[in-house]
Amino acid sequence: MKVKVSRKAHFNAAHRLFRHDWDDSKNSAVFGKCNNPNYHGHNYDLVVSVFGEIDQETGFVMDMKVLKELIKDKIEDVLDHKNLNLEVPEFKNLNPTAENIAIVVYNKLRPHIDSSKDLEVVLYETPRNFVTYSGE
Ligand code: NI
Repeated sequence: MKVKVSRKAHFNAAHRLFRHDWDDSKNSAVFGKCNNPNYHGHNYDLVVSVFGEIDQETGFVMDMKVLKELIKDKIEDVLDHKNLNLEVPEFKNLNPTAENIAIVVYNKLRPHIDSSKDLEVVLYETPRNFVTYSGE
């Protein structure tokens, strides 16, 4: 039997969405408030899910203590209270949209989760806007 287990997490971060090869009016038209040249913050909510067979000895799909620590070490400590554009190398040349942040989060966690398990990352940029990435 396969079960999906999930852990919620949270971080605050600043970003700016823009392209160097677009002029100000196009950046503003496409990225709106997220194009503010002086950056701005979001309260990101994260749901990390692991899907797979239950271990017959422990009854766990994954030890949630381990998942909690993994999210703290690899995601919260790296992204929380950071300027994503300036302080997180993955976004040096990658727009920190919710889509791209979800992919970066996935790629940071994937090597540390048993390869027999599926991983899914849901990232809320606002309470109403959220994206899902599961490695495809
Ligand atoms: Ni924004």
